[in-house]
Amino acid sequence: MSAKLRTAHDQDWSASSYQTHARFVSDLSVAVMEWLAPRPGERILDLGCGDGVIAEDLMARGVDVIGVDSSPDFVTAAQARGVDARLMDGQRLTFDSEFDAVFSNAALHWMTDAAAVTTGVWRALRPGGRFVAEFGGHGNVAAIVTAMRAVGLRRGGDITIAAPWYFPSPEIYGALLASHGFGLRRIGLFPRPTDLPTGMAEWLKLFRAPFFAQFGPQADDALHETVELLRPALCDGNSKWTADYVRLRVEAVKP
Ligand code: BEZ
Repeated sequence: MSAKLRTAHDQDWSASSYQTHARFVSDLSVAVMEWLAPRPGERILDLGCGDGVIAEDLMARGVDVIGVDSSPDFVTAAQARGVDARLMDGQRLTFDSEFDAVFSNAALHWMTDAAAVTTGVWRALRPGGRFVAEFGGHGNVAAIVTAMRAVGLRRGGDITIAAPWYFPSPEIYGALLASHGFGLRRIGLFPRPTDLPTGMAEWLKLFRAPFFAQFGPQADDALHETVELLRPALCDGNSKWTADYVRLRVEAVKP
């Protein structure tokens, strides 16, 4: 999903943890799939294909799919589903005028060089091809990030690694696409409160482990403190956790 060279602060993905704690990510892709409206015989790139669940669904609809992801574990999991999945940095796509559509769900926020992504998507599309994506938009997981920063400040940690994501507003992202030549068909930002079936601590461990790892033997304490800061805002009286997701959904066309 992330797409650059790895550093000590980078995210490591385990396809099995993702399956357990974040299956909702692909389960919640129905609306963006409707925007994509894939047709049998089309050739579509799934950018940030993760463990290949959506690519498999596209294949079942008669689509010729290639998936790319920067996580070796995800690529292996996608290949095990029969997906033509390749290890590739989404900020350095190598395709040239070969896709009817580029599709991406819940991946672009990991690719902070959005201009490089856009250049690669443009190049990968045939003239008339469409780019349909959904990812975190401006304000996404704001409460969660604020709680991590508060804990980081209190413990003298590095708060710059609390939120390594790209969450643009529709205005910013629309302008980026337009500056690369895309015609914007539709774009929207909307809150999508998201149930966390296995709770907040598991979400934090899956999605932001490097932030907590910086506290060494106190990592678990820092995690617990973050969860308790969030409890009044994001956990209801039935102990059900909800993350404050905000999505940006977009469709653009290469003329
Ligand atoms: C998201 O899907 O919005 C998301 C995933 C991981 C970290 C932050 C946000």
